[in-house]
Amino acid sequence: MTHRPEDLARTGVTAADGVWELSEWDRAIDVTVRRLRAYVDDSQRGTARVISRQPPEELARRLSLATWIREGGMDARSLDGFLATYLDEGTRLHHPGYLAHQCASPDLPAALGDLIHGVTNNAMSLYEMGAAAATVELAVIDWMLDKVGWAGRSAGGVLVNGGSLANVTALLAARARAFPEAWNTGVPRRAVILAPAACHLSIQRASAILGLGRDAVVVLPCDPLGRVVVSAIPEVVESQERQGHTVMAVVANACAPATGLYDELLGMGRLCNQRGLWFHVDAAHGGSALLVPTLKRLLTGIDLADSVIWDAHKMLRTSTLAAAVLLKNKTDLDRAFRQEADYLFFDDDRGGPDLMTRTVEGAKAQLGLKLFLNLAWRGEAGLGRYVAGRYATAHRLWELLRARTDFETPFEPQSNVVCFRHRDAQGDPRQVALRDRLIAGGRFHLASSMVGGTRWLRATVMAPATDEQTLHALLDAVKLAAGQVRDEG
Ligand SMILES: Cc1ncc(COP(=O)(O)O)c(C=O)c1O
Repeated sequence: MTHRPEDLARTGVTAADGVWELSEWDRAIDVTVRRLRAYVDDSQRGTARVISRQPPEELARRLSLATWIREGGMDARSLDGFLATYLDEGTRLHHPGYLAHQCASPDLPAALGDLIHGVTNNAMSLYEMGAAAATVELAVIDWMLDKVGWAGRSAGGVLVNGGSLANVTALLAARARAFPEAWNTGVPRRAVILAPAACHLSIQRASAILGLGRDAVVVLPCDPLGRVVVSAIPEVVESQERQGHTVMAVVANACAPATGLYDELLGMGRLCNQRGLWFHVDAAHGGSALLVPTLKRLLTGIDLADSVIWDAHKMLRTSTLAAAVLLKNKTDLDRAFRQEADYLFFDDDRGGPDLMTRTVEGAKAQLGLKLFLNLAWRGEAGLGRYVAGRYATAHRLWELLRARTDFETPFEPQSNVVCFRHRDAQGDPRQVALRDRLIAGGRFHLASSMVGGTRWLRATVMAPATDEQTLHALLDAVKLAAGQVRDEG
């Protein structure tokens, strides 16, 4: 079979199939930008529902998904109609009533970064696949290392797709330190990771993925709010060692996903350093407090860690995902991945570092660009003001809750996470029913946490649009819904 242009043409294929038609781009981008502009406007002003969660069958029908997939043919005009429904049937993270999960209310410069990545797709895990993107990532990592207190030549890191993968990567480096041969031959004897019960589920996942098994995560003694009791760590370490186990890492929350409370990093760090234990700080959410002069004390001692993770797609306002794995000694990370691949790595002039040697991922997205653009546009101080503002608004919510006798709160917030419940909705099932009712109302989206063995509503203040008026409206809405849930029995 030949592939001359005329042969191709006979099959309906042209050599130029797939080349961008730039007038099509102009029309499509115009439609998309107008739709997104209205979306952000309606979201920020709170004039649209914060969340809609129709069943997938219903949504697939409304979006004509099967037809589009079968027949194709979408153009700028039909994209407009598609986007109208698509954007309406999701969750609006710029909405003042968005108080649920720890996902960023993305900022404008970072959104541009995603567009640029979508167009250029420089998959820069090899330097030659995106020199500018790799260089931007290295600069952003250097900035983060500096914030942690590790400026200098020996520290290093990488951006990966999310906090969970970042925890896996950091703990892989810990495994390489404890068992240098584990990459080739597996973990030679029982190894354990000591962590608070309130750690993110990705710590258990990492343990299972790294071949230690989920049960290798040994829970550290904690206070009733789930914070590690530092004085109790030596006894746990010694007990593990008596059993012949190797303590591969000690994990701290900064801050814990369910409560937003910080472990005492200084005490944990000192203890780990004295005993030569790998200290890992999961600062996925709370690391951004490092940008706020009045809050960074929450992270005192973070520089004593061997590894830190810090998500940009939480409080640094990039889209999902962009998480930093930071190592005090970059050689720990370089040693973690010991692989040869003669089709990728050979002795040529690379021009710059191949970040693939530091991550689980093969190709890598241009994750640094979106964080860089936020930093370049808003400045470190601007991002810091955002973090300070969200933490302060959460604290204000707690003050309003405390001032009312019909609400309970289990702790004073340290971050932008607040747990609470209304006394009319007693019992865990009623908390769940109350949350469902709020979501159905479309004005507020809250999450839910277990604290001290009971279920609470959890508000995570992420959106810059959440203000004093929102907080009062929230408490009124929760009170109303609690009464309705109680009356339903
Ligand atoms: C403390 C902590 N670590 C890790 C993660 C996991 O991050 P990701 O959702 O990006 O995988 C989270 C997510 O909320 C978290 O709060």
